[in-house]
Amino acid sequence: METITVETRPIDGQKPGTSGLRKKTRTFMQPHYLENYVQSIFDGIGGVEGKTLVVGGDGRYFNDRAIQVILRMMAANGAARAVVGREGLLSTPAASNLIRERGTDGGLILSASHNPGGHDEDFGLKYNGPNGGPASESVTDKVFARTKEIAQYRIVESQDIDLATEGESDLGGMTVEVTDPVASYCALMERIFDFDAIKGLLKSGFTMRFDAMHAVTGPYARAILEDRLGAAPGTVVNATPSPDFGGGHPDPNPIWAKPLMDEMMSPDAPDFGAASDGDGDRNMIVGKGCYVGPSDSLAVLAANAQLAPAYREGLKGVARSMPTSGAVDRVAAEIGIDCYETPTGWKFFGNLLDAGRATLCGEESAGTGSDHVREKDGLWAVLLWLNLLAEKKQPVAQVMADHWARFGRNYYSRHDYEAVESDLANDIIDGIRDRLDSLPGSKAAGLEVTGADEFSYTDPVDGSTARAQGLRIFFEGGGRAVFRLSGTGTEGATIRVYLERLELDPARTDQDPQEALEPVIAAAEEISGIRSRTGRSGPDVVT
Ligand code: G6P
Ligand code: ZN
Repeated sequence: METITVETRPIDGQKPGTSGLRKKTRTFMQPHYLENYVQSIFDGIGGVEGKTLVVGGDGRYFNDRAIQVILRMMAANGAARAVVGREGLLSTPAASNLIRERGTDGGLILSASHNPGGHDEDFGLKYNGPNGGPASESVTDKVFARTKEIAQYRIVESQDIDLATEGESDLGGMTVEVTDPVASYCALMERIFDFDAIKGLLKSGFTMRFDAMHAVTGPYARAILEDRLGAAPGTVVNATPSPDFGGGHPDPNPIWAKPLMDEMMSPDAPDFGAASDGDGDRNMIVGKGCYVGPSDSLAVLAANAQLAPAYREGLKGVARSMPTSGAVDRVAAEIGIDCYETPTGWKFFGNLLDAGRATLCGEESAGTGSDHVREKDGLWAVLLWLNLLAEKKQPVAQVMADHWARFGRNYYSRHDYEAVESDLANDIIDGIRDRLDSLPGSKAAGLEVTGADEFSYTDPVDGSTARAQGLRIFFEGGGRAVFRLSGTGTEGATIRVYLERLELDPARTDQDPQEALEPVIAAAEEISGIRSRTGRSGPDVVT
């Protein structure tokens, strides 16, 4: 088998974002584009000679072609082994688990997560390190530096590798091991949760729906929920991964998972509903007539984790991203554990998990997870909910009402302004940043500003610092507005406005969040002028 060295030149814009490199699929399909980036990853991590990498993706359009290229490049760069999910499929948490369980040198995950897939949609690639988690900024900085100086890449010439059949084969001296993408992940879930208790719940007449959104968790959810736990056949819908996610937007939130929301709000709704995203790391939880926001879900899971066998000894600590609501902070304070506030992006939890400082982590962007892997994990969150419902024997709405009565309610919502022209979006953010010092003590839409800053984070484990991670404005009575630009978009800029208000009066914890947040929404607009400057009447997406 011949190894070819291909001359190339740097391609602009290959800077990894919040979660690897995400671009339009057709951008990735340009000559040398994928190859340059893959070689830059290899160079940035000090080469792959003699190494073993896990490789898999969410099955979106171009997943199959890109995997063939990656494997040929691994072989040409002297890698010893590639552990590949059958058909090139691996959910992100399952890939994280395989990296850890097999003690590999990391992995390559092909996904643009919750972004739509297809020739005219999005594709992505990220490198996870040997701990199973997204590469740290120091690694992605090295990869980015390589993309700016790359002059050649290496690839072997070969026929396509058969990824449909489990087993081992040779590719230019590298072993390609095709493995069942589901089996070891299932076994991990079985070790964490009380499957008998959940089986009992599902036998007792409790009904549920899981919407896999035509994405990668379909086979995982079927194997675990229907085959092992005995949920009725058909509980998992949209369970076959498709390259364009059935033409949908595989993001588990009330907007993109509307059919599930409609079902859960109807009179004959099942007891429990859940969904996950393109690559299986995000989750949405909804009870009969009761949507549970990601920040609240994290708080409820933290308050009840000890009901599941793996967390019986209690949690070492919890962590949330800065824009996530402070609901979990209130739980941590009451049970007496540490709570860390990190920048947006799962990679920032890695050190806390590795160092045993945090057991549970979560983000407002529908990610929840624990120290069982180093990624957020959609199905894990669903199973922890099922485990706690099996023990509590209460409807979801009751669990939420009890939680708010005990801890107070952090009303929360995120308003997104999508595809804003980049210069304008930057200008709006700069404008708020310029006024941060003068805001405290002033009033905005009648609310007093008690503090304002730009979030920066020093990792307590390795001392590294991440600056400019979002603008925070604090209001009297526990209100907060946060402004930041999305790091995962592929077109223009998305301005995210995160809104929060604390309600401690038990008689007032069942308001509509948008109404409860009205004063903070008005103050945020007065400070930022987003609507007036973009000429929009309101956000494109409200979560
Ligand atoms: C990805 C990461 C998450 C992060 C999210 C933020 O999904 O895996 O950890 O919370 O991006 O996205 P944003 O678009 O707000 O930068
Ligand atoms: Zn995802």
